Amino acid sequence: MKVDIVTIFPDLVAGPLGTSIIGRAADAGLVDFTVHDLRDHGLGRHRSVDDEPYGGGAGMVMRPEPLFAAVEPLRDAGAHVVLMDPAGEQLDDASARELATYDHLALVCGRYEGFDERIRTLVDREVSIGDYVLTGGELPALVLVDAVVRLLPGVIQEESHRGDSFASGLLEYPQYTRPETFRDLTVPPVLLSGHHGEVARWRRQEALRRTSERRPDLLGAIALDDDDHAFLRSIGFEPE
Ligand code: ADE
Repeated sequence: MKVDIVTIFPDLVAGPLGTSIIGRAADAGLVDFTVHDLRDHGLGRHRSVDDEPYGGGAGMVMRPEPLFAAVEPLRDAGAHVVLMDPAGEQLDDASARELATYDHLALVCGRYEGFDERIRTLVDREVSIGDYVLTGGELPALVLVDAVVRLLPGVIQEESHRGDSFASGLLEYPQYTRPETFRDLTVPPVLLSGHHGEVARWRRQEALRRTSERRPDLLGAIALDDDDHAFLRSIGFEPE
């Protein structure tokens, strides 16, 4: 996958793109990042990328000319253009998986109070990472990159993300590693039993328990079998 990121703060995004699993994916050629400095297309001596809003009001608005100059060539090259915007559709497991199917993404990061509306004519979708406003789209773009790149074939073992919270529609079951006893906290004996069937059953039930406690809304959206229903009844969970 090719990922272009358009920003006025290239340094802000460079570090995370070169670190840990995402950095290794790039080193292995599984993803190819290019960070574009929007100021290269800035106007005048100060390479300005923003201006006051027509109609008045606080804050600055990103001008269309630098954005078009940066984004149009990426769009012409076939990129799926994503504008990072708190008013966009909220990123979730399903949209991350869908975004992971594109060969080429272009992520456009804004600063200041917003974008000149005309940039929206160049974008395929607008994505928010949640109902809160950050000072710019760079951190949201990195969140999107992290969520999408880890799903690309070869980046992490596929089994790891098939069991992710949300992939199955349930929150993830509890995990333990060595030591068997830490302070007075012990590992559930079933995990030490070597019975794969029992382990799988326990994990399913603990995922159901956790989801019923923390995110009961998720349970309405997935297929539950008779065993699942029986377990949920046994812990006193009444579906809505
Ligand atoms: N830019 C500022 N806040 C944002 C958010 N929550 N999601 C995406 N882009 C943003």
